Order: sequence, then C-alpha cells, then structure tokens
Amino acid sequence: MPEFSHPFNGNKNDRTLDKNELIRAIRFSIASEFEAIQLYEQLRDSIEDDKAKKMLIEIAGDEKEHVGNFLRLLKLLAPDEENYYKEGFEEAEEVMGLNGEK
Ligand SMILES: [Fe+2]
Repeated sequence: MPEFSHPFNGNKNDRTLDKNELIRAIRFSIASEFEAIQLYEQLRDSIEDDKAKKMLIEIAGDEKEHVGNFLRLLKLLAPDEENYYKEGFEEAEEVMGLNGEK
C-alpha cells in the first residue's frame, strides 16, 4: 500500500538493488497485493452500490493475479524458497488430515 508519510518514498534509488534487496522488495510487493485484496473486499462488503461492488470484485481478482505474477517472479529469483512453501503445504495437509485432498 502507498506510504505517503515519508517525503522521499517512491523516489528512484541512487543505485540499483542487489539480488537480495530485489527479493525482499518482491516479498513486500506480494504483501501489498494481499493488503489491496483485503481493502477491496472489505469495501465491497461495506457498500450498497451494485456497480461499485462489481468493479471492486473485478479489481480484487486482478490483485490476486498480481500475487501469482509476483510469486512466479520470486520463484525465478529465489528458486529454493519454493521448497519451504511445499514443506508448509505438506505439514498443513498432515495436520488437517487432508491426505492429498484439494
Ligand atoms: Fe496489484
């Protein structure tokens, strides 16, 4: 989400990011997409206007696609990270007793 409290926020850096900084920025971007989804869905649930609701649903869907875009980029930049996610999925499935269930 935008951060307007710092006057230099959003300015171009005086140097390019190294790979680790880029990876952290992508993780931050993913979190921002989830925050946007939360905002649009909460707003949708808080209004009566059907056209606005329809637009907010569309925009929230776009943000979910952006999460996928960033996750794919993160996989490219930090391929080992996916192993942690797989481990977490498997652990959660075991705890919930899903046994491969979707
Ligand atoms: Fe987005």
